[in-house]
Amino acid sequence: MCGKSSGENISIMSAVINYTKITPEILTRIAQAIGIENVFTDEDSLANYSHDETEDLHYYPEVVVKPANTAGVATLLKLCNEIGVPVTPRGGGTGLSGAALPVFGGVLLSMEKFKAIISIDTDNLQATVEPGVITEEFINAVAAEGLLYPVDPSSKGSCFIGGNVAHGSGGPRVVKYGTIREYILNLEVVLPTGEVIWTGANTLKYASGYNLTQLMIGSEGTLGVVTKIVTKLIPLAKHSVLMLGSFAENEQACGAVSAIFKTGVIPSALEFMERRGVEWVVKYDDIKFEVKDGINAYLLIEFDGGDMDSIFKDCEHVNTVLEAFGCTDVLFADTAQQKEELWRMRRTMAESVKANSVYKEEDTVVPRAALPQLISGIKEIGSRYGFESVCYGHAGDGNLHINIIKAGMSDDDWKNKLKDGIIELFQLTADLGGTISGEHGIGLVQREFMSIKYSEVHLNLMRNIKKVFDPNSILNPGKIF
Ligand code: LAC
Ligand code: ZN
Repeated sequence: MCGKSSGENISIMSAVINYTKITPEILTRIAQAIGIENVFTDEDSLANYSHDETEDLHYYPEVVVKPANTAGVATLLKLCNEIGVPVTPRGGGTGLSGAALPVFGGVLLSMEKFKAIISIDTDNLQATVEPGVITEEFINAVAAEGLLYPVDPSSKGSCFIGGNVAHGSGGPRVVKYGTIREYILNLEVVLPTGEVIWTGANTLKYASGYNLTQLMIGSEGTLGVVTKIVTKLIPLAKHSVLMLGSFAENEQACGAVSAIFKTGVIPSALEFMERRGVEWVVKYDDIKFEVKDGINAYLLIEFDGGDMDSIFKDCEHVNTVLEAFGCTDVLFADTAQQKEELWRMRRTMAESVKANSVYKEEDTVVPRAALPQLISGIKEIGSRYGFESVCYGHAGDGNLHINIIKAGMSDDDWKNKLKDGIIELFQLTADLGGTISGEHGIGLVQREFMSIKYSEVHLNLMRNIKKVFDPNSILNPGKIF
């Protein structure tokens, strides 16, 4: 259990800011601004919004607010900016980097009332949605029109599309379709001054000065609050095939990944799972799957498209590669139910690790051909520092989620020694040409590692961008740097 309430020891931009505490008078002003029915100070609300899915961290806000429209967000931000109250925006609360934790107390701004899918434009293949829409509900709504919104993080059943924008989210289908960055055309954003802008245009091209849409994506609620989102959509593929390859060694599975692409195919998903992750998830979620002796790693590979013959040809290419890398067994999911079970196995893995052990998650990403070196390096560093890890993730993107599990590590080593091991993990990732988060963001828990990858010059550019948008540093302070 870590920090509890407001911002002790957390400095922002090398300076500690003294934020205004919320008094009864300020509460009254907030209630007048956005309606008393949208303001919560009861113990349960403060506790419910004191955490996201990041480790076991809890930071209590002083008040939770749930405005219902853009005007409400604008009035709220203007007020907080004038009086120096920190505001932490929050989506579905599924984040893994602590970006939604109100580390300085203040206002927790939940976007949960922004629930509308405003329009699905089947002529232009675009949609306009509010940020509090659950990602899977949006995916299903466009699928009903024969369209695909392919950004499907494992938490799609509960995360919000606004949170996905804030983190530059990915998910299994990035390998073929790209991250959320490829699908956001335009954003309505409220600035700390209360002014409202649209960041771009509802067009597929944009060469009109600095691209503020892309700047907002991945900014983790530190620059402005997104209140409307215009997305690109694509046609939904009619068919898909899912296969699971089993390997004796992690390095064999990881080595096969770049070789698969060299045959000229592009899978719609290419996921890696370590044995222990599979063992845990199978038990945790009651999945019918036999974990065979001698198997230590799996690749889950999906192809989609409009033509089964061409999908089968791609599968044949992949089979040849899998064999060459020592794959002992390939399972084809024949039925929709089997596909669903295999995907559930992969998607529930994070939850099952969390249920099994105290853990920390690091979201490394490297150029995909470096995956075998990354996985061996992780295990080697673990053996030197005495930590075990369960690794899984989006191998096709070179993106491995390293779940460091406490197992036999003493409390003292977990608290004090582990950090040096994590620094080595990130150093390795950087040395391999990668970076310290592929899709979970920096938030609170990775900020101290940013300097492993980024120079002061680079970080100062980011800090100065922050100052332009939010000179009083009221928006999600204590995050990213
Ligand atoms: C996943 C989440 C943890 O890939 O990003 O399951
Ligand atoms: Zn992931």
